Amino acid sequence: MCGIVGYVGPASSLDVLLGGLRRLEYRGYDSAGVAVIDDEGNLGTSKKAGKLQTLVDELAEHPVPRGGTGIGHTRWATHGGPTDVNAHPHLADGGRLAVIHNGIIENFSELRDELLAEGAEFASETDTEVAAVLLGREYRATGDLVEAFRRTVVRLDGAFTLLAVHRDSPGLVVGARRNSPLVIGLGEGENFLGSDVAAFVEHTRNAVAIGQDQIVAITADEVVVTDFDGGPVTVEPFEVAWNADAADKGGWSSFMQKEVSEQPTAVADTLRGRLHDGRVVVGELEELGDDVLRSIRRITVIACGTAAYAGMVAKYAIEKWARVPVEVELSHEFRYREPVIGPDTLVISVSQSGETMDTLMAVKYAREAGARTISVCNTQGATIPRESDAAIYTHAGPEVAVASTKAFVAQIAALYLFGLHLARVLGTASAEELETAAYELEHVPAKLATVLEQGERIAQLAHWMADTRSVLFLGRHVGYPIALEGALKLKELAYIHAEGFAAGELKHGPIALIEPGQPVFVVVPSPRNSGSLHPKVVSNIQEIRARGARVIAIAEAGDAAVLPFADEVLRIPLAGPLFEPLLAVVPLQIFAMELSAAKGLDVDQPRNLAKSVTVE
Ligand code: F6R
Repeated sequence: MCGIVGYVGPASSLDVLLGGLRRLEYRGYDSAGVAVIDDEGNLGTSKKAGKLQTLVDELAEHPVPRGGTGIGHTRWATHGGPTDVNAHPHLADGGRLAVIHNGIIENFSELRDELLAEGAEFASETDTEVAAVLLGREYRATGDLVEAFRRTVVRLDGAFTLLAVHRDSPGLVVGARRNSPLVIGLGEGENFLGSDVAAFVEHTRNAVAIGQDQIVAITADEVVVTDFDGGPVTVEPFEVAWNADAADKGGWSSFMQKEVSEQPTAVADTLRGRLHDGRVVVGELEELGDDVLRSIRRITVIACGTAAYAGMVAKYAIEKWARVPVEVELSHEFRYREPVIGPDTLVISVSQSGETMDTLMAVKYAREAGARTISVCNTQGATIPRESDAAIYTHAGPEVAVASTKAFVAQIAALYLFGLHLARVLGTASAEELETAAYELEHVPAKLATVLEQGERIAQLAHWMADTRSVLFLGRHVGYPIALEGALKLKELAYIHAEGFAAGELKHGPIALIEPGQPVFVVVPSPRNSGSLHPKVVSNIQEIRARGARVIAIAEAGDAAVLPFADEVLRIPLAGPLFEPLLAVVPLQIFAMELSAAKGLDVDQPRNLAKSVTVE
């Protein structure tokens, strides 16, 4: 939530900032703004409510001075609505200091009262302006931006990434972070700051992750990171694994379309180097040590949204292979209910961004309670993996569309790798079972490619259904989380009321929703390998059909049992029962995306949302 970029160097900072903001816009798109300092120390700012393009248009009409120092911001509103005034940067110290912020400053009201009592004036309703005014006061007291930062950040409660420039210090950008992301990009004779590496990957792939409660000062030639007391810290340099092209739309009409199509590669890249002749070896788990894995008595998966559904799918597989009880909980529920956890609990967090505040806080809570923690994450340099004992990275590449797609299948693949590795270490599954599962996993990418071939047909279906007001999704076993995910995708992309249910739950209430014409997607398990589940789901289909539902079945190729009762059948290739969800989710993603497009909505940036939820 909120994208931040900072630059010092020989280039026009405005161009660098706007390029960075374009790549960060998925983090929030309520408003955007920049502050630029030229070589004479003139500070120019511009900010506008609306998407980044509104700011670009404004800058064309009312340009700011050109210079090599600047900060830029794209906002997801928290305190104060998305207006020009509430957009960042916020100015202080008589308009000589500009500040941008990501996060929430919880004690802003007390601080505001303190500053008002001293005669300060505020133009906006934001917590950010309070931080800016406080920083301005400390700057006046010290005449040193870094020292002023130190004195300011220790007064702030909550989560923040703050960046500031002062017209007295052209060539300097200072930043600080607590529980909110900030990464450094190291260039040649130029340096960058960003909420994530997308902010500067176009210019450099040399990055440095900044730890919690640290302050960074960048000039064109130097980067200095200290803790909040000014003490030295150890930083973690890394090379960004992808280049700017990976985060470009290419020829696709939306990022989501591109990312849906990248799913075979996302899974293949996540499996790469971790499957060895039918044997799963996850290097990161080897580092953690077999003794640690053997000491685990239960596993809790914590995550939000789509990532939580990946955890729900994986629960079935991990329990089956490793025989360790797995519970899956939403991160924001987990930490507020005093969960029973200890040294024999493994808490696995799943997060594409690695920055989701609820998940980050839950990981910290788990660690403090003595649990072991593993992060499944798609983003290098992110906070959650750095706060965990070990990280299993998914290699889905940058996910720019707000709705998660390729990260979801990659998360399931990574969690399956974890389950198979654990089962091998614990000796809970036969060699044959493990080999078969590894074989199935290896073949998921090719099968995903087959499912994608039905894109046109699903698009047609979505266009026919563009006026639909409510859609239900049913599934059993691993199909249940897929039903939930199908409903989530439709809600967020097409703004249609959608609900996912466990098919077995139907007669306990939800069947009352069925009326003639009600569209219901049903994820049908394979008749070959689901024991009694297949006939049960077919019975569920008959029950809703009898009440007039319009049934769209997602069923295995060749499953004829559904034909008499389904209005439409979307096919997935043959796969083992635990591998069906990786395939069955794809038609649902495409359906939601196409329905959104059919309604003329913004597929990549649905209303009210942001890609990375960095506030609680
Ligand atoms: C839905 C979606 C969200 C995220 C959730 C967690 O399409 O993208 O539900 O899955 O906000 O985000 P991460 O995985 O970054 O922690």
